[in-house]
Amino acid sequence: MKIQIDEKDFGLMLEYEQIKKRIRLIGIQLTVDYENKVPVFVGVLNGSFMFLADLVKEVTISAEITFVKVSSYDGDKSTEKVKKEFDLSMNLKGRDVIIVEDIVDTGITLRYLLDMIKKHNPTSVKVCTLLLKPKSLKENFEEIAYVGFEIPDEFVVGYGLDYNGLGRNLQDIYRAV
Ligand code: IMP
Repeated sequence: MKIQIDEKDFGLMLEYEQIKKRIRLIGIQLTVDYENKVPVFVGVLNGSFMFLADLVKEVTISAEITFVKVSSYDGDKSTEKVKKEFDLSMNLKGRDVIIVEDIVDTGITLRYLLDMIKKHNPTSVKVCTLLLKPKSLKENFEEIAYVGFEIPDEFVVGYGLDYNGLGRNLQDIYRAV
């Protein structure tokens, strides 16, 4: 199936049913890994809102949820400059933190977030990302512990991810064609 967003063509890549199945498994894994802990999920806005909402419903231990907002993309290009749009409103000292990202592309945003969060002296920090573009990564992160899908170096949209601010509300994930 083809769709158009802001005059750009996209083709179907991942259906919501497939995404949901993968999220269910990650949720089970998190529930086991964080048993007897009360982790803090840090959702990275805007992109992670849909993934975070579906993910935490599959986690059955008690957990807190907070958000941070950063931006680095301009249209379909990474700008290398990360801007903090709003800061963490929670003290993460001594906490087990799980950063929830929609996608890790170059890893520049993640490096920025990890440096920022580690200043709080949390007990542990892990990253859970729905999508990972391994070929685009500029450094390897030992913190990336949970990955939904590894995808090629292609621009994707839907399920929280946008193109020029549009397409976040799509249920499925589409690739630029
Ligand atoms: P990075 O800093 O290059 O890893 O990019 C991370 C951020 O860029 C993500 O949180 C997204 O907001 C955005 N991004 C990266 N790749 C894509 C894409 O294919 N589609 C939409 N947004 C993307």
